[in-house]
Amino acid sequence: MAATNLGLGLHSGHLAQVFAQYPIEVAHGEGVWLHARDGRKILDFYGGHAVAGLGYGHPRWLAALERQARQMAFQTNALQMAIRERAAARLAKFVGLGLETVFWLNSGAEANENALKLAFKLTGRSNAVALEQGFHGRTAAAGAVTWGALEKWYGFPRTPFAVRFTPRNNPNAVEQCIDRDTAAVIVEPVQGVGGAYDVGKPMLNALRRRCDEVGAILIFDEVQCGMGRTGAPFGANFYGVAPDMITAAKALGNGFPVSALLLSRRIASQLKVDDMGTTFGGGPMACAVAEAVIDTIEAESLLANVRQVSAYIRASCIIGPITGVQGEGFLLGLKTSRPAKEVQAALLDKNILTGTSADPNILRLLPAYILNEGHVDILSQALAKISA
Ligand SMILES: Cc1ncc(COP(=O)(O)O)c(C=O)c1O
Repeated sequence: MAATNLGLGLHSGHLAQVFAQYPIEVAHGEGVWLHARDGRKILDFYGGHAVAGLGYGHPRWLAALERQARQMAFQTNALQMAIRERAAARLAKFVGLGLETVFWLNSGAEANENALKLAFKLTGRSNAVALEQGFHGRTAAAGAVTWGALEKWYGFPRTPFAVRFTPRNNPNAVEQCIDRDTAAVIVEPVQGVGGAYDVGKPMLNALRRRCDEVGAILIFDEVQCGMGRTGAPFGANFYGVAPDMITAAKALGNGFPVSALLLSRRIASQLKVDDMGTTFGGGPMACAVAEAVIDTIEAESLLANVRQVSAYIRASCIIGPITGVQGEGFLLGLKTSRPAKEVQAALLDKNILTGTSADPNILRLLPAYILNEGHVDILSQALAKISA
């Protein structure tokens, strides 16, 4: 993506110019609100790219971070720590579905990289299958299974393994694409970058069935759609389809970098010492934060809130330039009658921040789980004033 400097007057010349940026300098945040340095108060439907599940400055999150920082800010995996074990148990219980073993990492791409590596190592096979329009991260393996990466930004001279892409909405194409050479199939149950696109139960069931037939490992990349965003703990729970591995990140730490690779019993039973490794993964602050995020989602009934307010968005936001809604929970794509970027800019003029996606006619909403119907009213009233 070409770097754009939008004239904020902040450009020091020392940051890599690789990000297109919105014309906001954030000074601080509170709940679902961003406070800009120029005094604007902006309603945030983007959540720092799906990270701020609890919103900004949540007291439970802050307390966990402070408590753990004072007690022990970092310790290597070579030494045991109760918080690491406790957070893993908490996450495994939150997911259920027999995915009981956790390997802690730092980012979404890193979790996917390890998931894929493990699948190749355990199966001894040669290729992976991914879905068209999927996004899995910017590292060598994660980028290899990302749709369009090779043409746009991949950079490496070759991918580490062969990849086949299958259409995201055709369960009948699955059989031909996945065979006994397939080590892993990686899929986002609800695609994020692909446009808040609900891959859906028939497709996920077809992938599960075919992986079982040929002995391939099914990986759900829930970096964006997991951790409560669908209104269920994970997309796997939402659809009732159990993969062999799940990757989680983003809202897992609510802004503190943490990711996790969850493994089924069958996969975990084959692990040996040194199969994977990390310095920062499983750091106590990351684990304390992940535990606090899950505790908060449950204590404040945030899954129910996501479901209720998501339904309200569907009911009230098909207005102005919006012609329909896709996606699930708080990973929603508002279909736009004109380019989504224009609608996004018009909303930002009204102090509402939204996202776009790879689909030029989808405005992507990734708000915090604490969003309420009053916030949605502000969005729908703003949309009503934007021409179709
Ligand atoms: C579904 C999905 N997978 C993986 C990633 C990569 O995560 P990270 O940027 O933390 O490496 C993203 C990031 O947007 C994502 O949406």
